[in-house]
Amino acid sequence: MKILVTRKIPEAGLKLLKERFEVEINPHDRNMTKEEIIDAIKDKDGLLCLLSDPITAEVIDAAPNLKVIANYAVGYNNIDVQTATERGIMVCNTPGVLTEATADLAWALLMAVSRRIVESDHYVRAGKFDGWAPMLHLGGDIYGRTLGVIGMGRIGTAVARRGALGFNMKVLYTANSPKPEAEKEFGAKKVSLEELLRESDYVSINCSLTPETKYMIGARELRMMKKTAYLINTARGPVVDEKALVEALKEGIIAGAGLDVYENEPELTPGLAELDNVVLTAHIGSATSETRTKMAIMNAEDIIAALKGRKPKNLVNP
Ligand code: DGY
Repeated sequence: MKILVTRKIPEAGLKLLKERFEVEINPHDRNMTKEEIIDAIKDKDGLLCLLSDPITAEVIDAAPNLKVIANYAVGYNNIDVQTATERGIMVCNTPGVLTEATADLAWALLMAVSRRIVESDHYVRAGKFDGWAPMLHLGGDIYGRTLGVIGMGRIGTAVARRGALGFNMKVLYTANSPKPEAEKEFGAKKVSLEELLRESDYVSINCSLTPETKYMIGARELRMMKKTAYLINTARGPVVDEKALVEALKEGIIAGAGLDVYENEPELTPGLAELDNVVLTAHIGSATSETRTKMAIMNAEDIIAALKGRKPKNLVNP
């Protein structure tokens, strides 16, 4: 059987696939275009793709033999799961293995923007540091403040746990259903989005991107936040109206933002990169060697299971 891998991933996963199947790996050091995927997928039984590959009905229909799609990510908003399901194609993702790495990155952004780490680093490197000063690079307190988590799934819970247990923070959250374990473990409180935005000193976005969550945070919601509050997004860019965010950051509607994901990734909304009160990373939530290796193995094992007639562990089809 034949597999297409749309970008080189850690060898541990590729090895598992190469031992069993004929594997075509994108030879370029760049993502494949949609046209290249359509061309390469024609005779494939399995696809291992990235969160940035749009696996639309057009792509799926170009692959009459396709039986399984494994997305090298936990989020799978890039895949038309409904069409895949209608065609009897299994869709898999990588939940769990990237939870802690992504929560760590959310915290790295939170601390970096609040304590002005990047700005201060640039200042020192530019030779501007001429000694300790009482008013230099003042940031916001973190310990004991209020953390609002939008989307209390695996990653949201891991972000919240760090705040509650490590930084003595009060945790507010929104979710589709109550999370009694988080409430019991560290006193998290389920509130409305409006209450979360009004009360939190730090707002961390950890929900998946769906038609319901697209633009969940726009100009109106940003105005509900405290002027001293920070917004952290390690989930998906389109949950935030990025143009409204740039305006809010420029006008001091909120204090700052830490972003790992962008509305039109990898494009940035004009003005975003010029702001000092924002820290930007390149969608690296799961980017540790250990985590990326686990994701590669997880995808490979699910493809093997699907093509050997077993049920993959991480199916997302309804
Ligand atoms: C995912 O896997 O969906 C995340 O975006 C990783 O950062």
